[in-house]
Amino acid sequence: MQRLYRKRIVLGVGGGIAAYKSAELVRRLRDHGAEVRVVMTQGGREFITPLTLQALSGHPVHLDLLDPAAEAAMGHIELARWADLVLIAPATADLMARLAQGVANDLLTTVVLATNAPVALAPAMNQAMWADPATQANREQLLARGIRLFGPGSGSQACGDIGMGRMLEAEELARAAADCFETGMLTGKHLLITAGPTQENIDPVRYITNHSSGKMGFALAEAAAEAGARVTLVTGPVFLPTPDRVQRIDVVSARDMLAACEAAMPCDILIAAAAVADYRPEVVAPHKLKKDPSTGDGLLLQMVRNPDILATLAGRADRPFCVGFAAETENLLEYATRKLRDKNLDLIVANDVANPSIGFNSEDNAVSVIDRQQHETRFGQASKGHIARALVAFIAERYKES
Ligand code: PMT
Repeated sequence: MQRLYRKRIVLGVGGGIAAYKSAELVRRLRDHGAEVRVVMTQGGREFITPLTLQALSGHPVHLDLLDPAAEAAMGHIELARWADLVLIAPATADLMARLAQGVANDLLTTVVLATNAPVALAPAMNQAMWADPATQANREQLLARGIRLFGPGSGSQACGDIGMGRMLEAEELARAAADCFETGMLTGKHLLITAGPTQENIDPVRYITNHSSGKMGFALAEAAAEAGARVTLVTGPVFLPTPDRVQRIDVVSARDMLAACEAAMPCDILIAAAAVADYRPEVVAPHKLKKDPSTGDGLLLQMVRNPDILATLAGRADRPFCVGFAAETENLLEYATRKLRDKNLDLIVANDVANPSIGFNSEDNAVSVIDRQQHETRFGQASKGHIARALVAFIAERYKES
């Protein structure tokens, strides 16, 4: 189940007997490649020890909202931003009621309010409590707010009753969690995505490049595949695994990248997240350059412009819907808007790379998308996976309107 690979899941454990299944759930999620951080309610701790879940998740369990030490390490806002999915299993009747009312009186309910990630609940309670009109009204309210419910299942219960209210089994929950990352918004569409840096050779052993890790472009490719698209990912040299169901083409230089993109055309949507070298050495020395005493301490490299891949594809007769990125260290929106216009784009994603916690080679990003009418839509700081899913949803909407 590749869809859980590298997904960041906050697992909330409420106070019900089904909490014993949470231990197995942590294992299943991790087996499928997810990273798991556990948040327990006070009640949850009565049923299973934090130590068990710490050992299985590989991370300290988050317990209290007002614990300064825990907040200093990874506070409730960081947890909320970190998550690609908040899954609460078991979700008791009390927890459902508090979430339905938007109450934030402990760490878990606060994380739910603070997150932009999807939230899913695995209800677990006695059948009469599940059937009670109050719980059913809470269920309706939670569904109306876009919170997903996995189960409950039916069968014999710990209290001896038989009926609806059993928490689903760990593997069923892991599958349902994976399904949260499938949207189908781009079914039937071909997306061409560029990622990573390019390398421009100086001689056989040296080259010019930049700090792009490829994480943003790869996250976009993964999100586009999850949205049902056929994805071609043209990437410069990076050390990242290929996302599931993505056709990857490895290239080195800007000119290689342009050739690979042209060969992959036509496409419906182009997303250019690569940090392409604007210039390359005019001549690639056939042998390793030696220190030359006649030039003193300096070395002059004559550089020439590389082709602009994005502008070239945006200028074609079979032009796709074009989305560029603008990595800037100053005047972000002004420069991004200029690139949108100059390169004839539909959207540009402005990326403030002066802030080291977002942008190049970081785990997180925060971006603004600007359209041709110069409307700006902000996507606040979150993991690149999370930003990528939000961007793909936004781009899919705009593409449909175009
Ligand atoms: O890879 P990560 O470490 O995750 O970092 C992500 C990122 C910061 C690299 C990414 O989010 C980003 O901002 N990519 C664009 C970086 C950039 O160099 O932008 P630019 O302002 O130079 O170029 C503007 C646009 O034109 C970009 O879409 C770029 O891909 C494209 N371009 C630029 C030059 C060129 N010769 N050909 C191009 O297609």
